[in-house]
Amino acid sequence: MDNFLDLAAHRSSIRRYSGTGIPRKDLDRCIEAARLAPSASNSQPWKFIVVDDPGLKDKVAANTWDPVIRFNNFTMEAPVMVVIMLEGPKLITKVGKAVKNKEWPHMDIGIAAEHFCLQAAEMGIGTCMIGWFSEKPLKELLHIPKNKEVALLISVGYPKTPGQIKEKKRKSLAQIRTFNAYR
Ligand SMILES: Cc1cc2nc3c(=O)[nH]c(=O)nc-3n(C[C@H](O)[C@H](O)[C@H](O)COP(=O)(O)O)c2cc1C
Repeated sequence: MDNFLDLAAHRSSIRRYSGTGIPRKDLDRCIEAARLAPSASNSQPWKFIVVDDPGLKDKVAANTWDPVIRFNNFTMEAPVMVVIMLEGPKLITKVGKAVKNKEWPHMDIGIAAEHFCLQAAEMGIGTCMIGWFSEKPLKELLHIPKNKEVALLISVGYPKTPGQIKEKKRKSLAQIRTFNAYR
């Protein structure tokens, strides 16, 4: 990929994995990309728990779906799950919520997560962000204190069909962009 737009077009949510493990140095490269992400007040309100122990990973994945809905059961196929904690937002971001009614820490998490996923895509590693999960059992499983928040998960693995570029279903530019005023 020669330019950023190609990378952005190439990244898509991968929900079928080959099952091959991901080297920790490659996972760390994705975390490094996330570490460099901007955040409100440079708060960096995150921690990343990389779950690559196969038994533990299955237990984490099992908390992203249930047998009735079956939604998200592809996480069982992923060799790695990354659990992103919302960690220690600065006081200013709490003021932001109170005064400006903006959720900066969650925005920060989203940006860092996308840095992770784009870096992974550049290395041929597939990801899918997982916002649907059961927080309480996950916390017990990973010894996360009760007062902390699990913000987002990412399933990670080599795509079962490498190199496949999925067609993007997106609103058109005309639908989402105006110049100089809301319309
Ligand atoms: C915050 C967030 C939470 C998401 N949660 C889930 C999820 O629980 N399960 C899932 O299959 N996809 C999830 N996705 C992936 C979206 O469905 C996906 O990004 C969207 O459909 C666009 O497709 P693309 O990523 O392939 O471009 C999530 C994405 C985001 C940004």
